[in-house]
Amino acid sequence: MDRSFTQVIDLRSDTVTKPTPAMRQAMAEAEVGDDVYGEDPTVNRLEALVAEMLGKEAAVFVSSGTMGNLISVLSHCGRGDEMILGDRAHIFRSEAGGTAALGGVHPHTIPNRADGSLDLADIEAAIRSDNEHYPTTKLVCLENTHNFCGGRVLPVDYMDAVGELAHGRGLKLHVDGARIWNAAVALNVSPARLLAAADSVSVCLSKGLGAPVGSVVAGSADFIHRARRNRKIVGGGMRQAGVIAAAGIVAVTEMVERLADDHANAQTLAQGLAATEGIAINPAEVETNLVFFEVTQEGMSAAQLSAGLKERGVLINATGATRLRAALNHHVSAGDVQRTLSAVRDVLTSGAGQPVGQGFVYN
Ligand SMILES: Cc1ncc(COP(=O)(O)O)c(C=O)c1O
Repeated sequence: MDRSFTQVIDLRSDTVTKPTPAMRQAMAEAEVGDDVYGEDPTVNRLEALVAEMLGKEAAVFVSSGTMGNLISVLSHCGRGDEMILGDRAHIFRSEAGGTAALGGVHPHTIPNRADGSLDLADIEAAIRSDNEHYPTTKLVCLENTHNFCGGRVLPVDYMDAVGELAHGRGLKLHVDGARIWNAAVALNVSPARLLAAADSVSVCLSKGLGAPVGSVVAGSADFIHRARRNRKIVGGGMRQAGVIAAAGIVAVTEMVERLADDHANAQTLAQGLAATEGIAINPAEVETNLVFFEVTQEGMSAAQLSAGLKERGVLINATGATRLRAALNHHVSAGDVQRTLSAVRDVLTSGAGQPVGQGFVYN
């Protein structure tokens, strides 16, 4: 077994990315003010820039994707209202039930299809009629790209169709766009076009784009007015936040196009894994930077494969008994992909590691 690695290849998530030198410089030089007074020029610049990129009237800077989704839902729904979303949605599975805990919003889940979409007929059937027994349906949520469905991309036509359905029934459409940048690059469309039908969107700066902190919620001016109050309610009003917003500006201006490199590396990894005995994956289903695959070798669990890879300097999380996820990101080169494939083959031929750690990861 070759344990002579010098640098760990970290494929656990695209959230592990560290700020670039340009981000650190922008942070050091950022002009700041009190953002709760609306006086931080760098935050204001980031919000205006992202609103424009997403084709929305206004935007608000928040600390995380979870906060972005939470305040979006709180700004669309009151207590006892209902939102329709996929059963594999990050909002439903991995945000600690915040919309129910803090907003009293009732989640109505319908099955996510393998490509991350929701069947329009299922959405239609889930919308409640006006009856005193029922919660009031207010919102439909989509996720693009869809994390737990393999980083799959929802295309423009589909987004438009869900928007039309929702609006036709008096509902709003929120998009968890934590990785909307990946979706737009994969589809070769502008994020604004992709989000034309969305009433609100939460986008992350600290995943593939590499900023250290932050997300942005965008929507109409009226919606963002309500979202700012809800941000304050959850303790998210930040003060001299320009220090972190400065990195966000670099993220959205310099780091979006290069996501295509992550997608290309993901495809190379998927094809290499598909050619590896003891691994199952369909590379055609890898559309962006997330590579989910199954270990099929008898006697080897995902946790064991993950532990064996760790011993060889490659970090990949187990996300189920036999399932793993590798998240390509800007620290991982084409050469690292080849080293990863060698490490996988080495574990499969020379034996598993001892599983350690916190169990399955859902972020
Ligand atoms: C699809 C999706 N939405 C939202 C989030 C939440 O983002 P954060 O970790 O910044 O709270 C994540 C995080 O991994 C995600 O994958």
